[in-house]
Amino acid sequence: MNWMQPIHHPLRTTLFAILLLAATGSPATAEVTVTMPGPWGDYDKTLDDPAKVDATEAFQRFRQQSMQGTSATYRSIEQILRYDAPFAERLPGLAEELARRADDIETWFARETPARDGEPGALPAAWEDPEFSEYKAAYREAAERLQRKVESADDLENEDFQLRATEALNGVRHHCLACHDNYRRR
Ligand code: HEC
Repeated sequence: MNWMQPIHHPLRTTLFAILLLAATGSPATAEVTVTMPGPWGDYDKTLDDPAKVDATEAFQRFRQQSMQGTSATYRSIEQILRYDAPFAERLPGLAEELARRADDIETWFARETPARDGEPGALPAAWEDPEFSEYKAAYREAAERLQRKVESADDLENEDFQLRATEALNGVRHHCLACHDNYRRR
């Protein structure tokens, strides 16, 4: 019996494919390819198949993208105040945007769309726990406090003002962290 010989047996190949599938979990979400035409040519982009993304999932993704946008606004302010990015004149617009986003958070949780078991996302407590409203309200107040501080500044480049504004920014960050600690699974 020549059992040392390398085997390329069709059955082996099939078994290997099944094992690989079991190891990597279910096949990836169905995808479609969409062409993005324009003056620089046609670009093909692979996207999740819209027919396979239900309304709950789309709602949840919208909330996640909105949180990402909030993060970008927050981080932009942080670059100016903490790291001296030369865009101090943008502070009023950015602080207003952060406050507007904080105000909007209510709509992102309007529908009960928690993460599936064990997956990252919002915990069911965000809809079950009455205290969640207080987290949202306190966060909005912190964002408004920062906005008022920026609006009342005489000189946006002034070091003392920037120090006080940084404290107010830390105050906003506290609410991001506290809410995530209680209502988000990573
Ligand atoms: C009142 C609660 C609350 C506050 C305040 C809050 N978040 Fe969130 N955030 C959540 C929850 C819940 C999730 C998970 C949402 C989901 O995946 O459906 C989340 C998710 C995120 C995510 C991940 C989004 C993704 O792509 O999965 C980022 C980034 C984020 N938040 C940034 C921030 C920043 C920055 C702040 C403050 C400026 C903030 N959040 C304030 C509750 C909050």
